[in-house]
Amino acid sequence: MLLFGATGMVGQGVLRECLLDDRVTRVRAVVRSPLDTTHPKLTELVHADFTDFTALAAEFEDVDAVFYCLGVSSTGKREAEYRRITHDYTLAAARALPANPALTFVYVSGEGTDSTEQGRLMWARVKGRTENELLAMPFHAYMFRPGYIHAANGERSRTPAYRLIYPVLSRLYPLLRRTVPGKVTTTEDIGRAMIAVVGRNGTGEHVLHSPDINRAAAG
Ligand SMILES: NC(=O)c1ccc[n+]([C@@H]2O[C@H](COP(=O)([O-])OP(=O)(O)OC[C@H]3O[C@@H](n4cnc5c(N)ncnc54)[C@H](OP(=O)(O)O)[C@@H]3O)[C@@H](O)[C@H]2O)c1
Repeated sequence: MLLFGATGMVGQGVLRECLLDDRVTRVRAVVRSPLDTTHPKLTELVHADFTDFTALAAEFEDVDAVFYCLGVSSTGKREAEYRRITHDYTLAAARALPANPALTFVYVSGEGTDSTEQGRLMWARVKGRTENELLAMPFHAYMFRPGYIHAANGERSRTPAYRLIYPVLSRLYPLLRRTVPGKVTTTEDIGRAMIAVVGRNGTGEHVLHSPDINRAAAG
């Protein structure tokens, strides 16, 4: 399995679940800076140019699943920069994969993603375009659209502003889970759900919102 964004909040949680789960035998994490964790199942692939993965072709060759958790907040970013990281990096990774119709690609977008690509919100249009292009590719693509994500096991965001807000939201999580259960999930459930959808072999819903993610994680 190939993991992108392993240093981020979502990626840390997904990595943890993959390392704990016996169904996942090998994790190759593509990162731009080294991880602070080692594990017999984990190989770290430090890479600089996320628009060109030619140098990693041999590592991509026998991959059967990709968990794509790399992404940034659009706050303070112009459309071109946000599009480069959100869309261009993701599609470059997808296009660098071997032709394998049985491969599963799971992409983390977000609640509110705009599938029409025509709406008012820049981030939602860019994520919508990214999702649409992934869904049209010749592999099993699953789009995860979480709303609020609770860091279940101490995962930390790479986004400074979120590191300030998260401790407060984290304390409110039990209340959020009770009052808006359809809008929340956890890093743990995202990781478990990603592993679960690989087992669907391309069947079922291809766009999963928080309740779908939580159900997939539980089942
Ligand atoms: N957190 C939430 O509540 C939430 C909710 C809904 C959707 N999402 C989506 O989930 C995804 C992950 O979010 P997160 O909270 O895990 O973010 P995060 O903690 O800020 O982590 C971002 C990840 O993306 C990598 N990254 C960012 N810019 C990069 C670049 N220019 N080149 C290479 N790698 C880059 C980071 O690597 P470095 O460590 O090298 O910077 C890190 O691994 C995003 O697409 C986000 O929109 C998050």
